[in-house]
Amino acid sequence: MKIRPKIWNSFGGRSFVILLLCVFFLLLGGCQTSAEPASQASGAGQDLFESNCMSCHTIGAGALVGPDLEGVLERRDREWLAEFIRVPDQIILSGDPIAMEMLAEFNNVEMPNLGLSESDVEALLVFLESSGDIELVAEAPLPPGDIYRGEAIFAGGNALEKGGTPCIACHSVDNIGFLSGGVLGPDLTKVYTRYGEAGLAAAIKNIAFPTMRDVYVEKDLSDQEVADLLAYFADVDTGGKEDTASGASTIFWGVGLLGAAALFGFMLLFWSQQKESLSDRLRKDAGITSRRHS
Ligand code: HEC
Ligand code: HEC
Repeated sequence: MKIRPKIWNSFGGRSFVILLLCVFFLLLGGCQTSAEPASQASGAGQDLFESNCMSCHTIGAGALVGPDLEGVLERRDREWLAEFIRVPDQIILSGDPIAMEMLAEFNNVEMPNLGLSESDVEALLVFLESSGDIELVAEAPLPPGDIYRGEAIFAGGNALEKGGTPCIACHSVDNIGFLSGGVLGPDLTKVYTRYGEAGLAAAIKNIAFPTMRDVYVEKDLSDQEVADLLAYFADVDTGGKEDTASGASTIFWGVGLLGAAALFGFMLLFWSQQKESLSDRLRKDAGITSRRHS
């Protein structure tokens, strides 16, 4: 681990005593002193990384939604990284040139603000510094997806296996058109191109978007559901399935026509009743008059 020498230096002359103490406690069965803050922080950092970052980043396995973070501390200033990881939204908003360049490279997908504390970020940086030999293995390939099932999952026609909220509660896509969905989350029409197949799969599978995470905690999607959604997003993105769009409007016009027919029927019924009662009244009037006449 690269970090250790720095720590020993900072401990200066006391390091030897601490080492001795450590060996002593180790022999007793538990060296849990603060002589190893780096590996502790790096352990915490790894946990944080796995639960917050792995859906969008790899270390040494290539770009996903965001850049491969292997050696990131060598190519960027540590303070800049600390700020960017803690408040990426603000750095992007400030027009920071590095952030702008990355944003362009990553199809304008913004790294979300994950609400991390400064100590979380520090632990993450320690982990990233020390993770030279960790390579995140790509996940097992997904089963083949089905566009129509994906659409039904998106729109809530098929309930999610673990009972998660349907995406349409917060998102819309073009094809669903005016019958469409929520506005809390962004429109997902072009999300497939923007994230790329692998990136989108990872992002949906281990949801890291702050707003969504709470909703899907313990209600993660199955591989099949992820695959179906991917197939659907890929299709929506390429503007495919025009038939669905026209299908939706056919339904709309159908509903409209049925509604109009029902209304017309009502009017006829009402009208004929009206006519009846009118003629009744006329007949009655006639009767009265005829009685009067007779
Ligand atoms: C939803 C996807 C997503 C998540 C989750 C995410 N990132 Fe990012 N990250 C990105 C994207 C995309 C970029 C490229 C910059 C941009 O476009 O905002 C980026 C950029 C970065 C950079 C700058 C890399 C460089 O080459 O300078 C670092 C460092 C980073 N992320 C660390 C993290 C850490 C640590 C976490 C977890 C705490 C995390 N990211 C979570 C998407 C994500
Ligand atoms: C409770 C509301 C909510 C639900 C339900 C929801 N999302 Fe989201 N989603 C959001 C919000 C809000 C964002 C924007 C990032 C953030 O603030 O967390 C987002 C972001 C995203 C993004 C990134 C979009 C982008 O342009 O960067 C994807 C992809 C996504 N959601 C997919 C889904 C899928 C797939 C489902 C259904 C399985 C779903 N979401 C369900 C609220 C939701």
